[in-house]
Amino acid sequence: MARASFITLEGIEGAGKTTCMAQLRLLLKQAGIGFLETREPGGTQLGEDLRQLLLGHKHTGMSDDAELLLMFASRAEHLQQKILPALDNGQWVLCDRFTDATYAYQGGGRGIAYDRIRNLEDWVQQGLKPDLTLLLDLPVDLGLERAGKRSAPDRFESEAGMFFEKVRQTYLDLAAREPDRIKVIDASLTLDEVLAQITSTMNHFLSHHQS
Ligand code: TMP
Repeated sequence: MARASFITLEGIEGAGKTTCMAQLRLLLKQAGIGFLETREPGGTQLGEDLRQLLLGHKHTGMSDDAELLLMFASRAEHLQQKILPALDNGQWVLCDRFTDATYAYQGGGRGIAYDRIRNLEDWVQQGLKPDLTLLLDLPVDLGLERAGKRSAPDRFESEAGMFFEKVRQTYLDLAAREPDRIKVIDASLTLDEVLAQITSTMNHFLSHHQS
């Protein structure tokens, strides 16, 4: 049996992450794989407190660098307390967002240089990267329309459409750079079609990582 895998899910707001997480959960259960399900920012007590600061409206004018560093503070805690111990124990990890979101939102959206994020990634993760990342891609207008039907917008959801155009493009650039790890799912299709893409991507991954 190969070592435990680290799987992440990414996409702009309204891409359907919640539904796709449920499908991934089901597929791992059906495959008899023990896993930890978690999210970023968050996943630990400190991380969830940082999430409130990052997503809430208390610090609307937070500086871009503070935002970036808080994302990595949450990630450092998450890796030490949850992710690495789980993987060491043979448990797979299914994480709702990870460092690709930092490149997309703080890099693409806020305009922080790629290399600065790369330095923090190297420092905090010391080479650890997801084994598989599913990127739910869809036009920004469609995503925002879907997201708008939910509850009051958080600090990121309050950004303008142009911010999310840059986030989306950065995600696609990352996928083009690392096609073996990041699999793009067309999330503009019907729910059945999106779930079918998730299933086939996961089945392909499982067939290569379980023997
Ligand atoms: P969500 O997980 O409910 O989608 O909300 C998390 C928000 O935080 C989302 O708008 C993306 C944002 N985010 C970043 O900006 N950078 C990051 O590194 C992560 C993990 C999330």
